[in-house]
Amino acid sequence: MTSYINYKFSSKGEKMEKNQIPKHVGIIMDGNGRWAKQQGKPRIFGHKEGAERVIDIVRASKNIGIKYLTLYAFSTENWKRSVDEVKGLMLLFEQFLKGQKKLMLKENVSLRIVGRKDGVSDRLLKIIDEIEKDTYLENPALELNIAFNYGGRPEIIDGINKLLQEGKKSVCEEEFKNYLYNTYIPDPELIIRTSGEFRTSNFLLWQSAYSEYYITETLWPDFKEEQLILAIDSYVTRERRFGGAK
Ligand code: IPE
Ligand code: IPE
Ligand code: MG
Repeated sequence: MTSYINYKFSSKGEKMEKNQIPKHVGIIMDGNGRWAKQQGKPRIFGHKEGAERVIDIVRASKNIGIKYLTLYAFSTENWKRSVDEVKGLMLLFEQFLKGQKKLMLKENVSLRIVGRKDGVSDRLLKIIDEIEKDTYLENPALELNIAFNYGGRPEIIDGINKLLQEGKKSVCEEEFKNYLYNTYIPDPELIIRTSGEFRTSNFLLWQSAYSEYYITETLWPDFKEEQLILAIDSYVTRERRFGGAK
C-alpha cells in the first residue's frame, strides 16, 4: 500500500508540504446498491458493507491528518426509495451510532449529524442528540460530520428562512455562512464521489463553490485507505486558482 510519506511528494516529484493535505474532505458515498447487486445480494447488504468502510475511512482520515470529514449518508431525496430500503437505512444508521460511540471516544473523534429533522423518528433524533453530546470534544483529532437527511438546497433555504425570521433584509456571503448548519467548519478543499457518477446530488452546494472534485469508479464498499490516498495524492498535485490567473 502507498505509504503516508508519499504525500510529501507530488506525482511530478516535487516536494509537498504536509499542510497541503486538505483540512476538510467531503465524500459522496455512492455505489452500495450496485456493489450488492454484483454479489447477487439485496441492496441492504451493500449498505451494511458501506457502514464498515465508514469506520475504515474515519481511521485513515485521522492518520492522514484530515481535520474534518463530511460523509453523505442519506439525502433529502433518498426518501423516494422503497419503504424497505429506507427502513433498513434508518435502522443501520441507528445501529452504527450506538455501536461506534466507544470507538469514536477511543479515537478522539467528535461526531456531528447535519441535516433536517423532518421525517426522522423521535427515537433516532434522541440517539443523535446523545451521541453528539457524548462525543463532544474541544479539540478532537477529527471531526466527523455525517450528512443525514441532508440536502444542499434545503440547507440554503433553511438559512434564508432563519435570517428572514430574524428580520434581516440582506446579508453578505460571510454573514450567510452563519446561517448554514455547520457554521465554523472551513469549506471542503476536496470532495470525493465513489461509483463513477459525475454529479453533486445536492451535497454541500454552498460550501463546494471552489472544492476540487475527485471521482472514482470504485464503489463505496470497496473504497479503502488506499483509494483515499489516491484521492489525496490527486488533490495535492492540483493547482487551485479561485478565479485568479498566473
Ligand atoms: C449510496 O449507495 C448510499 C445511499 C445513497 C444511501 P446507493 O444506494 O445509492 O447505491 P447505488 O448508487 O444504487 O449503487
Ligand atoms: C447521493 O447518492 C446521496 C448519498 C450518497 C447519500 P444517490 O445515489 O442518492 O444519488 P443519485 O440519485 O444517483 O443522484
Ligand atoms: Mg447511488
